[in-house]
Amino acid sequence: MSAAKQVGFSERDQLRFKGLGTGLALPEDAEGLLAYCGVEPADRREMLAARPDPERDPEWWAITSALAAEVERDLGLPVPSTGFNSWPAVPEDVSPVGLFAGAWALLANLMRVRELHAQRGVPEEVTVATVAALGGVMGTHRHVFGRAGVGLIPLWSPPLRFRGADYEIGRHAFTRTELGLGDDVSGHVLSVHIPPTGRLDAQESEESVAAAVQYFGCWYPEEPLAGLVCHSWLLDPQLNEYLRPESNIIRFQDRFDLLPYLPSEDPTEGDRELMRLGLHLPVPPVPFTEEDLAAVPQDTTLQRAFVAHLRAGRHWQLRTGMLKTWS
Ligand SMILES: CC(C)(COP(=O)(O)OP(=O)(O)OC[C@H]1O[C@@H](n2cnc3c(N)ncnc32)[C@H](O)[C@@H]1OP(=O)(O)O)[C@@H](O)C(=O)NCCC(=O)NCCS
Repeated sequence: MSAAKQVGFSERDQLRFKGLGTGLALPEDAEGLLAYCGVEPADRREMLAARPDPERDPEWWAITSALAAEVERDLGLPVPSTGFNSWPAVPEDVSPVGLFAGAWALLANLMRVRELHAQRGVPEEVTVATVAALGGVMGTHRHVFGRAGVGLIPLWSPPLRFRGADYEIGRHAFTRTELGLGDDVSGHVLSVHIPPTGRLDAQESEESVAAAVQYFGCWYPEEPLAGLVCHSWLLDPQLNEYLRPESNIIRFQDRFDLLPYLPSEDPTEGDRELMRLGLHLPVPPVPFTEEDLAAVPQDTTLQRAFVAHLRAGRHWQLRTGMLKTWS
């Protein structure tokens, strides 16, 4: 039986680990490297205590090896036009070693990504901000689940950051993404993200975009930019019904040309993503019950909007937009 099956990953997720490497080299000075990645002392201690061991934790050793090998295999590559699937969340009842497996796989690649950044001329401050995603995701994990680790969150941005595809520059993170309109790569875009690092100040946002456009032109001249794109709950035009026009979210929306809405097969996808990414709440199984909705704090306009919209029988949308002005 495969390690992924043994620890309880779904059949679909088991495919993720198939055929990837088994030889894992974990860094000796993990504590110092974790501090470099912005990991808080309490999380550092818990992660060091959950270091996988090939004898004691053979399944998690195999899974950590496979995830680390995936990052190493894709080092330096942009996200292909077919996208990138998050690392799957681990089953809820796993040991601390399981909860930290993804974090160890990332840390095993820290020196590689630092070297790649240095070769491309990325300033140290951008490298530090980029790999601080590891500390950030641990903080979110603790806040949402009340447990140390990274495993209960499907990891999308951290693996991309540790392979050199995603960079945090000021207020935003940017993912190098290939555009595919035919058999070959047709162009390159930057996907814009809004990490949960505070308010979305308009000036900081504009400065971040301007810096990214300039930087990527120097770091990746072979990937001339066709545009900047954002896919997020933040671009749902229905938010206009609830938020003030001068709110940061609506001002952010105003800077994008919205692409036509292509409904997802699962109408609750936007609801779950807004709850998870936007409101930082654990997401109960769908459909949400009245009890689930009643448990959402009602302190802010966004929280109240989230609940009122769902109570009205409507759904939130993940929308895609192209930044209007960027060069
Ligand atoms: C994106 C983000 C920075 C916007 O925050 P902001 O700058 O405060 O946004 P706005 O000024 O437009 O806020 C409008 C209202 O929504 C509230 N609000 C915004 N984000 C909120 C959040 N994450 N949780 C609860 N309420 C929130 C604000 O408090 C404000 O309500 P109020 O006027 O009653 O105080 C914030 O939502 C956030 O950090 N989200 C997490 C990251 C995320 O979702 N990224 C996108 C992933 S696809």
